Amino acid sequence: MSSYLVTGASRGLGLEMVRVLASKPASEVSIIIATIRSAAPAALQEIISQAQGRVVTVQLEVTDPANVTKVAGEVKEILGGRGLDVLINNVAVSNTTPTSVTATTTLLSTFDVNVVAVQNLTLALLPLLREGTLKTVLNMGSIVGSITYAKRFMVAPDPAYRVSKAALHCLTRLYALELEAEGFTFVAVSPGWVQTDQGGPYADLDSPTAAKATLDVLSRNREDINGKLVNIKVEGWENATGLHKYDGGDLDW
Ligand SMILES: NC(=O)c1ccc[n+]([C@@H]2O[C@H](COP(=O)([O-])OP(=O)(O)OC[C@H]3O[C@@H](n4cnc5c(N)ncnc54)[C@H](OP(=O)(O)O)[C@@H]3O)[C@@H](O)[C@H]2O)c1
Ligand SMILES: *[C@@H]1O[C@H](CO)[C@@H](O)[C@H](O)[C@H]1NC(C)=O
Ligand SMILES: *[C@@H]1O[C@H](CO)[C@@H](O)[C@H](O)[C@H]1NC(C)=O
Ligand SMILES: *[C@@H]1O[C@H](CO)[C@@H](O)[C@H](O)[C@H]1NC(C)=O
Repeated sequence: MSSYLVTGASRGLGLEMVRVLASKPASEVSIIIATIRSAAPAALQEIISQAQGRVVTVQLEVTDPANVTKVAGEVKEILGGRGLDVLINNVAVSNTTPTSVTATTTLLSTFDVNVVAVQNLTLALLPLLREGTLKTVLNMGSIVGSITYAKRFMVAPDPAYRVSKAALHCLTRLYALELEAEGFTFVAVSPGWVQTDQGGPYADLDSPTAAKATLDVLSRNREDINGKLVNIKVEGWENATGLHKYDGGDLDW
């Protein structure tokens, strides 16, 4: 009977995570709050129409503090006195045109969406998360933001994105350390290289596979994921090399 909020549910991994959650029985997933910032696309409308009221949309432009405040109120209403169990901070921006670090001018705008907005929304929803049973926050990280593996991932197009994900990983770890005594779980998940608008058509995994694998992380033992950057596990990809290995292991920061 858990409640979930997924940001950026209009397309890509956010949309597919909503689909996976909606396919679970109501005894497992009671409500899915899907945030979008414009009209619900047809694919999301279809999920909603088949979900018997369990998928609810709210409008959220994550970088607008007034929107964030409004959404916290709406979520409270929707949950009707219960807490929020799982927050999935999925929204991010990445430039798909390859840019060198010496030509990067988008650090601030990228940080606003990928880091600062995550902080603002998490803070706004923290009172509701404290009332929840699972007290879980999943931040969508990325191995291309790993400093250890920086050289291996020079093919990643957007340095600002990479730096922002490194910051998001650190933010996740700090939350985990500060709130672990309250029973919280904060985890950064690297969802693999995925066929979305951001990942492009040649990526390793289709978005349903990656969305399922990302959510599977939440079934692991809390002590195995709290405060970590974890890899997804996808059958058939466990022994691949470098970029393409999805073995469910911990990833170096
Ligand atoms: N795809 C990959 O290979 C890959 C790899 C590693 C990590 N990730 C991470 O996984 C997450 C999802 O990625 P994706 O590939 O699904 O991305 P995507 O296809 O580009 O979708 C991005 C989503 O974020 C929303 N969004 C962007 N800026 C927003 C804002 N300011 N306010 C509200 N919503 C906003 C978009 O909404 P609109 O439709 O309204 O624009 C869309 O729903 C991201 O955190 C990404 O960094 C992806
Ligand atoms: C985050 O919240 C702060 C404090 O309310 C606000 O000044 C800032 O504009 C917000 N930034 C984003 C990107 O939401
Ligand atoms: C939310 O953000 C959208 C887009 O920026 C804006 O049009 C709308 O007025 C905002 N709503 C609130 C309540 O802040
Ligand atoms: C990966 O390697 C392990 C250990 O060598 C082996 O047991 C497993 O079958 C391999 N998996 C695939 C998909 O090749």
